[in-house]
Amino acid sequence: MRVCVVGQGGREHAFASVLRRTADVVVTPGNPGIEGSVATPPTEIDADLFVIGPEGLLADGLADRLRAGGRLVFGPGADGAALESSKAWMKEVVSAAGVPTAAYATFDSDPAERRAAHAYLETLPPPYVIKTSGLAAGKGVLVTDELAQAHADVDAKLDGTAFGDAGRRIVIEEGMRGPEVSLFALCDGRSAVLLPTAVRDHKRVGDGDTGPNTGGMGCVSPLADVDRAACAELAALAFEPTLAELTRRGVDYRGVLYAGFMLTLDGPRLLEFNVRFGDPEAQVTLPRIENDLALLLAGAAAGELTDQIRVSEDAMVCVVCAAEGYPAAPRTGDVIAGLEGAREVPGVTVFCAGVGAADGQAAPPESLVTAGGRVLNVCGRGPDVAVARDRAYEAVRHISWPGMTYRTDIAAAAAAAAAVLNR
Ligand code: AMP
Ligand code: GLY
Repeated sequence: MRVCVVGQGGREHAFASVLRRTADVVVTPGNPGIEGSVATPPTEIDADLFVIGPEGLLADGLADRLRAGGRLVFGPGADGAALESSKAWMKEVVSAAGVPTAAYATFDSDPAERRAAHAYLETLPPPYVIKTSGLAAGKGVLVTDELAQAHADVDAKLDGTAFGDAGRRIVIEEGMRGPEVSLFALCDGRSAVLLPTAVRDHKRVGDGDTGPNTGGMGCVSPLADVDRAACAELAALAFEPTLAELTRRGVDYRGVLYAGFMLTLDGPRLLEFNVRFGDPEAQVTLPRIENDLALLLAGAAAGELTDQIRVSEDAMVCVVCAAEGYPAAPRTGDVIAGLEGAREVPGVTVFCAGVGAADGQAAPPESLVTAGGRVLNVCGRGPDVAVARDRAYEAVRHISWPGMTYRTDIAAAAAAAAAVLNR
């Protein structure tokens, strides 16, 4: 089978490397660190299966255009992708489906709605949660205990100054507290098949969960506090009712559903749906899938998902190496050193995310430069989280460029919990 992966980050690098176990893979546009990258647009590529990584392309209808040309596509059409590109619609769908989720209200930028948004905030206890309804690369959510900051954020979003049009409609939510967990299910339009392993992302930029939200600074899977039985319970709460509600609304959803939950004292609550694999969550999940991934994704795309998904018991930890200034204003163009040494650490894979090729230098990977905020995804794999984590950080220590930053506490709590629970 020939598979075309669409996208250019670490998630697409992980897709390509796992799909290559059983298929020929081309990546568009990819990046200079991903083997098999081509500049040809996806609509001009001949492949048996198209796998679309980024939410922006899905929301923009790329899957619809490819399907209209008779191609087999893993990824929802623009209608299903609105679960992520319109948080307002997502909240309406999941509420109709009976999925437990935070109380909420939506507002747009006309003066009466703006006044109503500020008034609604005054009725809520902290923490205050204000989200852009539209796509904002994982950065459109403010969670704060400061009411004044919440009011200012409402205005910045509605004015379009903070996130452009994505913020001209906002969702204000009841603030919740508790650990978070992410799950994935593959959907073939009728059924949702769970990937039976939980993932925990580290969204804030700084150690100890400080600083602004990012696209994700690292992640770990599996989790000792969310075993396979708990995964199945969460899946039954969210995936099946949502898929049934989508079907009722005429949406034929073929692709992955990514559910983010908060485990509150009142029970689990759905935080968000994404319509694609998480980045970097994919990097610690896809390599552990034991099925033939190309066949699995093709089955979902064709509406014939029959297999259960088998996931290795191994643990994986991903540490994101980011550019100085990420997420606000990452500095780019710095030469990346030490990639080869990092890749020689046992159990380590390094996926290339925001990288570019240095002009006139040797062929990659010797000549890669930073070209985005999140630059490399350094992934350690091992029999438990502690070993996987040690391997990832050992590899990180080989890598350097001016201003490189990373969190030092990725998976620290998960490793401690696993040790206590003896997993
Ligand atoms: P989202 O993109 O909707 O998952 O939100 C990004 C992050 O903001 C989540 O991972 C949570 O850490 C936080 N968050 C979102 N919604 C809430 C909420 N209702 N209460 C508390 N924290 C939230
Ligand atoms: N890492 C968060 C996401 O991909 O949405």
